[in-house]
Amino acid sequence: MCGIVGFVGDRQAAPILLDGLRRLEYRGYDSSGIAVCGDGALRVKKARGRLQVLSDLTRAGADLPGTLGIGHTRWATHGEPNDINAHPHVSQSGRIAVVHNGIIENYMILKEQLLRKGYTFRSETDTEVVAQLLDYYYDQCNDFFEAVMCTLNAIEGAYALGIVCADYPDRMYAARKDAPLLLGFGEGSNYLASDVTALIRYTRDIVYMDDGELAILSAGGIRIYDRQMRPVEKEHHHIDWEVDAAEKGGYAHFMLKEIMEQPRAIREATAARIQSGRVVLSDLTMTAEEIRSIGKIYIIACGSSYHVGMVGKYNLERMLRRSVEVCLASEFRYSDPIVGEGDLVIVISQSGETLDTMAALREAKKRGARILSIVNVVGSSIARESDDVLYTWAGPEIAVATTKAYSTQMAVLNLLGLYFGDIMGTVDYETYTAMIRGIQNLPTQMEEILLQKDAIHELARECASHEDVFFIGRNLDYALSLEGSLKLKEISYIHSEAYASGELKHGTISLIEDGTLVIALGTYEPLFDKAMSNVVEVQARGAHVLALTTEKHAADMAARVPMVIAIPETEQMLLPQLGVVPLQLLSYYIALERGCDIDKPRNLAKSVTVE
Ligand code: F6R
Repeated sequence: MCGIVGFVGDRQAAPILLDGLRRLEYRGYDSSGIAVCGDGALRVKKARGRLQVLSDLTRAGADLPGTLGIGHTRWATHGEPNDINAHPHVSQSGRIAVVHNGIIENYMILKEQLLRKGYTFRSETDTEVVAQLLDYYYDQCNDFFEAVMCTLNAIEGAYALGIVCADYPDRMYAARKDAPLLLGFGEGSNYLASDVTALIRYTRDIVYMDDGELAILSAGGIRIYDRQMRPVEKEHHHIDWEVDAAEKGGYAHFMLKEIMEQPRAIREATAARIQSGRVVLSDLTMTAEEIRSIGKIYIIACGSSYHVGMVGKYNLERMLRRSVEVCLASEFRYSDPIVGEGDLVIVISQSGETLDTMAALREAKKRGARILSIVNVVGSSIARESDDVLYTWAGPEIAVATTKAYSTQMAVLNLLGLYFGDIMGTVDYETYTAMIRGIQNLPTQMEEILLQKDAIHELARECASHEDVFFIGRNLDYALSLEGSLKLKEISYIHSEAYASGELKHGTISLIEDGTLVIALGTYEPLFDKAMSNVVEVQARGAHVLALTTEKHAADMAARVPMVIAIPETEQMLLPQLGVVPLQLLSYYIALERGCDIDKPRNLAKSVTVE
């Protein structure tokens, strides 16, 4: 999704803006641009394509003097990706420049009004309306602060805005509604960004803006106002990520680095939450009484986070003996959901900014449900609007395809199941202790699996030329197959589908023909024999099978199947935690063999902040 950076301070702005934008590249974009105020002028440079084009165009920023500026990476929504539609957008008078994330819903009406007043438009974007409207109000009242307020009152929809005006080369304006925006406090310099990764090289002192707030940034400080234009004091957050957490650190891709980081991420997410063999969730404010009286449980999420929810359904139902409904956020929000007081809604999101997930959260909250979110990005919108947050502590995830966030979300959900199950009295002692032991062993077992990466690369070479793949599995293996299939399709562009094995014969098996690649998951011990029967069934129709199973069953599987990956034994409910690692590696190496842009797959964005 689009990214915003802003700088005002004691140094040349352009190189800092370009560096910030480079750190936002991972979010996905198709064009970029910067606007800098200096020497009494507002200079704007924009370019379609990679950021390097913009950097070359400005000689790495050297051509743009000035210590105040805004930058943007655009992911096209209104109008095709080109130089004109790229941000910043400049008003007709050339005085005002705007960068924007989100969608101005009433832009057509505003545009018509401005056209009637003689304004002309260059781009097809909704954002240009904001620049022209600012110009219009500024002309009317001759007070830029008032012009900004009038503009914010006139626009509807979602926005994170960075605004500069050539008449005020010492300050920049920032406004937020339903799109993330944060302020960075430095020494003699201050910053604006849509994502903390753009800023950690410069400052770790961060304030997250809330909806309806307006900020004015100058080199000497930042003033923040609420909807009624009253000054507000905000909580400062210290970001303790290492700078190199957002660097590749010698790996060819962020995705591989993040796959390899999973043992450490799981340790971070779980170690402090297990004390003397018991789960301690000190970050949870729910009382034992509130936990015992939970009615229905919903899990709401999108994409891979939804797949974690699918695993969670099997595990929470087993540990809590309560029915758990897993919902796609984009469906839940429009489904007139039967959710209310006494119900618990578990919201899962790596970014904490996914628009559909956010909207579903608000819908559930409005209806009286309690919201507990599992989130990676500290201080994100979902985290802030939830009654309780359990952070996954995975560190920054840069590759578009999630890996370590998925794993840590699952680990936290398992801990939550154990914690609730203990209080509800629904999880027996043997299962509880086996799960604790299993969770503590996960990092070491994941390290063992990661040692197989060269062997998995070999298998990937054999699979890379297929154009259709089916992932099949039952129970937890089915939930895991959904993630395996998504991982493969999003980064390798191979058509891939996941099916509950039992469903095959209800239609899909007609697609299996000579040489079709089937990735058969057979890690779930209670249903191993059935997994094996499904392997035989697809082989009989000519399928080429790659199987994922546990070490215990590896030999049986290898007797039938040419390609087998084995994971160590663990408690049943934890098998997807281990099983996902080879599936991630397999997708990664297949995409590598096909020469794909692994960290930034086509058409995808890291954080989906539009509907
Ligand atoms: C796939 C992937 C996406 C996200 C989805 C939700 O690899 O990363 O499917 O899981 O867009 O994002 P979050 O978890 O940030 O709400």
